[in-house]
Amino acid sequence: MIGAQAGPLVLLGAGKMGTALARGWIKAGFAAENLTLVDPQPADAVLGFAREFAISLVETVPDRPARALVVAVKPQQFPAAAAKARRAVNGDTTIVSIAAGISISSLEAAFGTGRVVRTMPNTPALVGKGATGIVAGDRAGKEDRDLAGELMAVTGKVVWLDHESLLDAVTALSGSGPAYFFLMVEAMAAAGVELGLEPETAMILARQTLVGAGALVDAEDTPPDELRRNVTSKDGVTAAALEVLMGEDGVALLMARALAAGAARSRDLGL
Ligand SMILES: NC(=O)c1ccc[n+]([C@@H]2O[C@H](COP(=O)([O-])OP(=O)(O)OC[C@H]3O[C@@H](n4cnc5c(N)ncnc54)[C@H](OP(=O)(O)O)[C@@H]3O)[C@@H](O)[C@H]2O)c1
Repeated sequence: MIGAQAGPLVLLGAGKMGTALARGWIKAGFAAENLTLVDPQPADAVLGFAREFAISLVETVPDRPARALVVAVKPQQFPAAAAKARRAVNGDTTIVSIAAGISISSLEAAFGTGRVVRTMPNTPALVGKGATGIVAGDRAGKEDRDLAGELMAVTGKVVWLDHESLLDAVTALSGSGPAYFFLMVEAMAAAGVELGLEPETAMILARQTLVGAGALVDAEDTPPDELRRNVTSKDGVTAAALEVLMGEDGVALLMARALAAGAARSRDLGL
């Protein structure tokens, strides 16, 4: 259960990701009375969620110290939001940020504390199946890391990183990764149509294949390459298709190029 050591928790930005986190915390047993959601224009669903669990939902950050402040505003909203939130930060506050591209040093400067943990979740966090990279600032302590790890664990799997610079790779891999699989579904459905299937049929089959393959990866300890070999008989249909996908200019090369481009862009956008 979250929050053995957690006191008041402020969520800055109750948008898509922030609300997914807050829902996860409540589900994990975090005391609703210790949670404050801050958002100047919350969506109706957020108003309903706050009402349902009697969570405080306010326009501006309350003027009292928080045990943890979770930053979930858009990067461009960060400077203004952080300036207003600083009054909730004192020496006992842990800052946990999910804002893409806002560096640990920017967070430290904005909040005037070294107790900073930076994370990069992805959208499957919305359904508790997220993959999150997480890294602590040099001046963050064990308490900060433990609390941040607990808070992020409700979104799915959390992987600790040794250095902040690795967040660019995480952003390119898992942060943006869901889009690559969505593209794969589109491409597989289109290829099925080329082979004579009705578009709707091809899309149902492609979508469900991703869902099913994902469930198998999730359910079994077997590594993906073994799962792949298990469904590939010699000289069979899968083998013929994989020969194309695993060719010299196949998926491995494309993925390496795609992730390198994504990581470079992530570096460029960082603040
Ligand atoms: N979505 C993803 O896949 C993903 C993955 C990893 C990290 N992230 C990061 O997660 C963060 C949130 O993303 P999101 O998709 O959840 O965005 P979002 O839905 O736009 O949520 C941000 C929320 O913060 C509110 N806000 C704006 N200014 C504020 C202020 N001064 N104080 C408090 N709240 C304020 C926004 O209100 P308005 O709508 O009225 O502006 C909005 O409700 C971003 O920094 C993003 O980089 C997202």
